[in-house]
Amino acid sequence: MEKLVVKGGCRLKGTARVSGAKNAVLPIIAASVLGMEQSTILEVPELEDVRTICKVLECLGLKVDMSVPHRLKIDSRKITSWEAPYELVSTMRASFLVMGSLLARVGRAKISQPGGCAIGTRPIDIHLKGFEALGAEIRQGHGYIEASAPHGLVGTTIYLDFPSVGATENLIMAASMAKGTTIIENAAQEPEIVDLANYVNVMGGKVRGAGTTSIRIDGVEAMKGGEHTVIPDRIEAGTYMVAGAMTHGDIVVDNVLCEHMKPLIAKLREAGAIVEENINSVHVVGPEQLKAITVKTLPYPGFPTDMQAQVMAMMCISKGQSSVLETVFENRFMHVDELLRMGADIRTNGGRAAIVEGVDKLYGCQVRATDLRAGAAMVLAGLVADGTTYITDIHHIDRGYENLVEKFTGLGATIQRITE
Ligand code: UD1
Repeated sequence: MEKLVVKGGCRLKGTARVSGAKNAVLPIIAASVLGMEQSTILEVPELEDVRTICKVLECLGLKVDMSVPHRLKIDSRKITSWEAPYELVSTMRASFLVMGSLLARVGRAKISQPGGCAIGTRPIDIHLKGFEALGAEIRQGHGYIEASAPHGLVGTTIYLDFPSVGATENLIMAASMAKGTTIIENAAQEPEIVDLANYVNVMGGKVRGAGTTSIRIDGVEAMKGGEHTVIPDRIEAGTYMVAGAMTHGDIVVDNVLCEHMKPLIAKLREAGAIVEENINSVHVVGPEQLKAITVKTLPYPGFPTDMQAQVMAMMCISKGQSSVLETVFENRFMHVDELLRMGADIRTNGGRAAIVEGVDKLYGCQVRATDLRAGAAMVLAGLVADGTTYITDIHHIDRGYENLVEKFTGLGATIQRITE
């Protein structure tokens, strides 16, 4: 079993470079199914989730060349299957994103039903309602969801009950080759959606308004290949920024688009950190004593749920009473029990609210990475804890952080991966 061993007490110093965004590259890879040529994707993070979605494409008959680091070449001229099997979808829900592109390209898709996960039941009803509105017939059974549109999809106006990131992405892809125009209302506005739309447009699609709540997609007959560079990962960037603030550090996080970081920057400043925004980087200086803050997670441009666990780790050592309201996921407090083991003082109402009383010290012990971002929170807590923290289940962390050990070591942290 692999573990991360983190020694607490160091002040981070130096520069860490952020990789391409996991949550942008996954839908972009799924969108490659749309083109009839070869595509090149650059700034691809080397992550387990990326390997999984590439395997899904290979199952569909596409050829994926990962021979050059951080570059993917995808040959989508031939598609031989429209089925994404349980083995892959069960390890990563984002595999479901090939449903939209398959429907657009071959008029059918059979995808294993994504199960629940640690952070909630995570239904896909908004995706399916959207596909149906575009004219697809949906059948569910035996653990699979089948969608078919033998005569093609037809553009329409779709109102999303919630601005779901995945549903917005899946529907952009599905509508990209539908007959006529599709309008997605109450669309998610995340930067990753803009990145996907830019890629679809490079391939010859016509997507307008991505990044706003109303996205217009004019269906085109066919798409070609394209070359695209993935945006920096705002959650990875945010994780290092919080680490800098927590450790009284003085760090530069490089390859950051500050306009994507507004809610976190505001909260770090409220907590007493100095945050200097540069064109492509951000400089964070942590205060001697962090102050309590209040965070409410929301769809973009609100505070990202994917930063909630890391910021809660920071609250644990901030002076005073902090609070968290998680409004995006129903059960995203798995890290609370682990932080409590380290000596944190956190109360939850069993649901979506948590009160965090700052303590003088956290104490290193054995904890679990209960999900990807919870795992990152354990690393941050470990960096400031008294003694050594041993983190298990680190495959969760590997899903979303490229070279985490190397990057933290580069900032002066004492962290290593061991195999027992
Ligand atoms: C994406 C991100 C994830 C992030 C989340 C919210 C990727 C690969 N993952 O996940 O890291 O935490 O956005 O920013 O980009 N919902 C429904 N029905 C649906 C779809 C969603 O009820 O059909 C609910 C979910 O259960 C959840 C909320 O809507 O409570 C948000 O989900 P959504 O925005 O779809 O997140 P994902 O796309 O799964």
